[in-house]
Amino acid sequence: MSRHTADVNVLVTAGPTREPIDPVRFLTNRSSGKMGYELAAAFARAGHRVLLVSGPTSLDIPDHVDFIPVESAADMQQAVGQHLQRMDVAVFAAAVADYTPANVADQKIKKTGDTLTLELVKTPDILGSARSQFGFAGTLVGFAAETEHLEQHARTKLERKGCDLIIANDVSKPGIGFDSDRNEVLLVYPDASEPMPEASKHDLAHQLVQAILELHLSKAAGGG
Ligand code: CTP
Repeated sequence: MSRHTADVNVLVTAGPTREPIDPVRFLTNRSSGKMGYELAAAFARAGHRVLLVSGPTSLDIPDHVDFIPVESAADMQQAVGQHLQRMDVAVFAAAVADYTPANVADQKIKKTGDTLTLELVKTPDILGSARSQFGFAGTLVGFAAETEHLEQHARTKLERKGCDLIIANDVSKPGIGFDSDRNEVLLVYPDASEPMPEASKHDLAHQLVQAILELHLSKAAGGG
């Protein structure tokens, strides 16, 4: 199948990030990393060169995939910035923390009062930096995890972040998405949208890779 799309360089981000509070604590989220790892594995199985930039997960690194482990959103931003320019396709599947502690305590924070207030500051929007900061001109794919107005919110993200495709999923539905083996997504393109029925993340990854490579081909041919 990769007859027309051999030698595609693909960057995939995956997993949660860990935002440090002090030497023993961090803020994180429930992302398992499964969708991103399945995508990386499916691209590699289709014969493409894959770089997986991943926050901490319990998953095995897929075969034939280059791997950069990262912890925080800032680390992920740096790793992506270093490698994005030579990529043809970039898929941002990571659940990046939107906020990080304003200050990281050098020593373990002790219990001193009944309440503790943490000041948080925005993390870099890595996907949002791809076009504007890193000058990426390849096929750009983001994810959107939403609890309402799925298509509308995904379309806003698509435009705001300069993506060619947003893979949107409704995280309010039980049994799919975060921390699950199954997912059901809506593909949101600039001028169309297409539902993909519920499937295992493994099977879905295969279908998503086909859709992304098709999109990449049409973009490379001047159709995107
Ligand atoms: N993303 C990223 N860097 C961030 C936040 C998000 O690269 N700091 C990427 C995710 O990997 C995903 C997409 O952006 O591909 C959507 O993330 P999301 O957090 O849903 O989007 P936001 O723009 O933060 O919108 P909101 O939180 O308001 O829904």
